[in-house]
Amino acid sequence: MTTRNPENTIAVSHSDPILADTAGILAKKLGLPTYDPKENVPALLLTLTPERLELRQTGKGTEGPLFVDFIGGAIEYRRMHTTSRKEAIARAVGLKGGTSPVVLDLTAGIGRDSFILAGLGCTLHMVERSPVLAALLADGIDRAKMEPALAGIMTRMHLIVGDSLEIMRHWQPERPEVICIDPMYPHRSKSALVKKEMRLIRLLVGDDEDSDSLLRAALDLAGRRVVVKRPRLAPALIGPEPNFTISGKNSRFDVYLIAPIATAPAQKA
Ligand SMILES: C[S@@+](CC[C@H](N)C(=O)[O-])C[C@H]1O[C@@H](n2cnc3c(N)ncnc32)[C@H](O)[C@@H]1O
Repeated sequence: MTTRNPENTIAVSHSDPILADTAGILAKKLGLPTYDPKENVPALLLTLTPERLELRQTGKGTEGPLFVDFIGGAIEYRRMHTTSRKEAIARAVGLKGGTSPVVLDLTAGIGRDSFILAGLGCTLHMVERSPVLAALLADGIDRAKMEPALAGIMTRMHLIVGDSLEIMRHWQPERPEVICIDPMYPHRSKSALVKKEMRLIRLLVGDDEDSDSLLRAALDLAGRRVVVKRPRLAPALIGPEPNFTISGKNSRFDVYLIAPIATAPAQKA
């Protein structure tokens, strides 16, 4: 279960009167109120603008806005400069020799890790249980589909809104080769290491307190390996020892091997 802060109320708003009906439909779909300027301002606003869907924190000195941008943002720059040898997540997932496994991402968030892996050829099933984050992610995917350079990658990214434990319970027919888990870590500081975006996501979803159960279920379901992303110095999730870890500057990947990933047969000249 997540620990949500009850003060973090959220409503749906729009930046242009022409979007009022669409914002109303979105609010209904997400089970959220629409923002009424005559009432108290909620802590968070999910705001529809002509360009995109944004999560905004209200009040002074606040974070945001948060939106998903696969097209021109930092994540697209990272994808364009990523090779499977260089990027820690790609090595953790076991991408080498032309492999492109099917990956189940149990903690999709705003889809950055999934995007990097889809860019390297993996097929991603991404599960997110926060309907608001899932709406932001779906909006980012829809916009990226219109971009010819990204349309192919987007066909490999499939979003599922729901709780991963439940989704894994009913998963069929084929086991995903790799399962990735990147739970919220209970950072309490406002340090620069905890990115602004993550602080806003935390306000929305709280801490992920079921990560140990996610690992157990993932180890039962994955065909080849389970990869858990942790802050560099954080303890591993409760369960078996990882077979190995790959450390980056701020984060670490704990890798649990189930079976080797088959490498693609060598191409004949
Ligand atoms: C740290 S963020 C993941 C960030 C993500 N790796 C990225 O690249 O954007 C963790 C996310 O996992 C989601 N989450 C945690 N436990 C979940 C569960 N059991 N089922 C579905 N989503 C879950 C949270 O709602 C949160 O959005």
